[in-house]
Amino acid sequence: MHIDLLMNSSGTNELFYRDKNVVVIDVLRASTSIITALNNGAREVIPVASVENAVKVSSSLFGDVVLRCGEREGKIIPGFNLGNSPFEYSADTVTNKSIIFTSTNGSLAMVNAKFARKIVVAGFVNITTVVKYLKELNEDFVIVCAGKEHHFCIEDTVCGGMIIDILEKNEMDTTRTDAAQAAHILYKSFKRSLFKMVRESDHGRYLKSIGFEKDLKACATVDSIPVLPMIDKGVVKLKREE
Ligand code: MLT
Repeated sequence: MHIDLLMNSSGTNELFYRDKNVVVIDVLRASTSIITALNNGAREVIPVASVENAVKVSSSLFGDVVLRCGEREGKIIPGFNLGNSPFEYSADTVTNKSIIFTSTNGSLAMVNAKFARKIVVAGFVNITTVVKYLKELNEDFVIVCAGKEHHFCIEDTVCGGMIIDILEKNEMDTTRTDAAQAAHILYKSFKRSLFKMVRESDHGRYLKSIGFEKDLKACATVDSIPVLPMIDKGVVKLKREE
């Protein structure tokens, strides 16, 4: 099993993903919010790259079953139903809803990967479930960190490194690119203080400054939501146990 890792998704074109298995990670907060929404009963999440597309796609669906969701600069987009805090995606709010979701980095990484063979959405909250799936799949895969505005961000890379670490502990025979190897080393140096790493990250400090401090704990909690969201034909749904 060969593992590659992109520290952000810029610089790849859609053809890069063709026939690859992809794990998309946006710990703060797109992955975590999408995983929360689906676990709380949302019918599906449709990630789109731009606000304009979110409006267009949602207008083509029935109004009472659709929520327009997402953020720019971490804040709810004017006229949208929900922002990007996982706490907004409660069962009361999202059950049976189709969620049209756009965020600065996370939804972009998901849309970019649309030609991939399999696409899984991962965060700390569902990491063991994702690794179990990868182990059963037993094929090469690429971890795509959403990053922050075309740059590296530590929390996504550490989460990618944790996937590699758990696979190693499961005695999977893996080879890695330099980037995947670096992510694994980074994880090992932060594994005893994941929450501190998230809290002190660039985006963690930014989210705290705009009032979302409690999201950090939720996003850094390992295995709190053990579900497997997969993207098929541009739509994220939970994969049920077979
Ligand atoms: C993103 O996609 O850039 C993030 O999820 C931003 C955020 O924390 O809302």
